[in-house]
Amino acid sequence: MPVMPRWPISLGTSTIAGCALAIVCTCACAQTAAPSYSAFVIQGERGIAMARVITDAASCPILNLDQGNVPMQLRAAAETIPLRATRSAPADSKPAAFPVLTCEAVIPDGTLSAAVYGQALPLPAKTVQRIVVIGDTGCRLKKSEAAYQACNDQRQYPFTRIAAQAAEWKPDLVIHVGDYLYRENRCPVDQTGCAGSPWGYGWDAWLADFFQPAAALLRTAPWIMARGNHESCSRAGQGWWRFLDPRPLIAGRDCNRAGNDDVGDYSDPYAVPIGGATQVLVFDTSGTVNKIIPKDDIRAIKYSRLYRQISALAQQSPYNIGVDHHPLLGFAAEQNGRGETVLLPGNRGLQSVFSRIDPALLPPDIQIMLSGHVHVWEALSFSGPQPTQFVAGFSGTEEDTVPLPVTLPANATPAVGAVVAHFSSWVNGFGYMTMERSGPGRWEVKIWNTDGKQMNACHVNGKHTVCDIAQVQRENWTDKSAAIK
Ligand SMILES: [Fe+2]
Repeated sequence: MPVMPRWPISLGTSTIAGCALAIVCTCACAQTAAPSYSAFVIQGERGIAMARVITDAASCPILNLDQGNVPMQLRAAAETIPLRATRSAPADSKPAAFPVLTCEAVIPDGTLSAAVYGQALPLPAKTVQRIVVIGDTGCRLKKSEAAYQACNDQRQYPFTRIAAQAAEWKPDLVIHVGDYLYRENRCPVDQTGCAGSPWGYGWDAWLADFFQPAAALLRTAPWIMARGNHESCSRAGQGWWRFLDPRPLIAGRDCNRAGNDDVGDYSDPYAVPIGGATQVLVFDTSGTVNKIIPKDDIRAIKYSRLYRQISALAQQSPYNIGVDHHPLLGFAAEQNGRGETVLLPGNRGLQSVFSRIDPALLPPDIQIMLSGHVHVWEALSFSGPQPTQFVAGFSGTEEDTVPLPVTLPANATPAVGAVVAHFSSWVNGFGYMTMERSGPGRWEVKIWNTDGKQMNACHVNGKHTVCDIAQVQRENWTDKSAAIK
């Protein structure tokens, strides 16, 4: 049995809150050790708010609402899943152990207060004014790339700090654009920076890579969670379905058996209304690839259907913010053999499927896209029908360091037919993004570093965005004078 890291929230042995809240609890509970747990609220289809609790208790707790107490339902029992095919060789994999319960209960509309184990839960705002956007938050431990991030060093893996700073900003809503779990393989003995880290796809890795560092932000606001490629079935998909996806956990859609991955790797998009005639559209693109998807590939069938569903959902509201993990309209950069920077376009797989239906790639009712996957921050605005694209994959995992150009070469585009009108970026800087509503279809966007210092500001009006600074210069984490005031 691996040693479990300390839980983010523990009642320890104090039982005062436990006795006060649990209607089934008598003073006998004073003799019982209180559970360790993580409690949070996610929003899913039609904006339904769901309380989730992951607990090491023997049964699910009571959810205390102002209308009364509700027993939480068991979503996933404690179990260890037999080893399945993963991205890693069997020698570098292990069965995913989940020695915890996942419990859930819907929080009805109009609820004034909700609590579990004595901890108040955040409730959805009627009209969301303040959004935090983060992405790609885990600590990279990946043998195939010999990539071992220093998970134990907050300068090199700053997600805890980012979550705390973002919580201080007091958002109404948190959007995570995907890629939560990066600790896929064992930390080698010669790598002191990640020594002792849990690894694999079980609860201990989820706790260390997400629930523990994200704790402050999970307590602050409800979350909308997009699914990244790190949560595909051959990676951390089991935990994705058990802990984070807002829809029901269904046998066969749980990533437990590779033979069912054609189901588990895809899910329908959904819309979360956030007031002000605006909704957030969440798409699952975890199964895409960065190459053209042939017409007879299952992904072509799945993503054609996805486009049509997105299009139908978008027509429900005049203002739509799309959230998916893979940017359709963002750049990545790499260096070729001659040391030259080469700009790479948006996700070719999604582009190939969506463009067969719509040359503009996305339905016209979407004004803003929020994505991650590329480990930088970017904003792109277009002179044609495309929405603004933000990339916010800069909140914890090892950064991409190949510099993006301050000024794009003539005709550089992330997608065929898309004409870039404005481009802003920040490479090699960890942080988070905020969006503050300033009018119908208008948002004031700010970019912050790990110290909570503002690094850039962008102004969104409908589909169009302009940022104050074309490129935030590389900062030295320890030299705050290097940060832009
Ligand atoms: Fe990714």
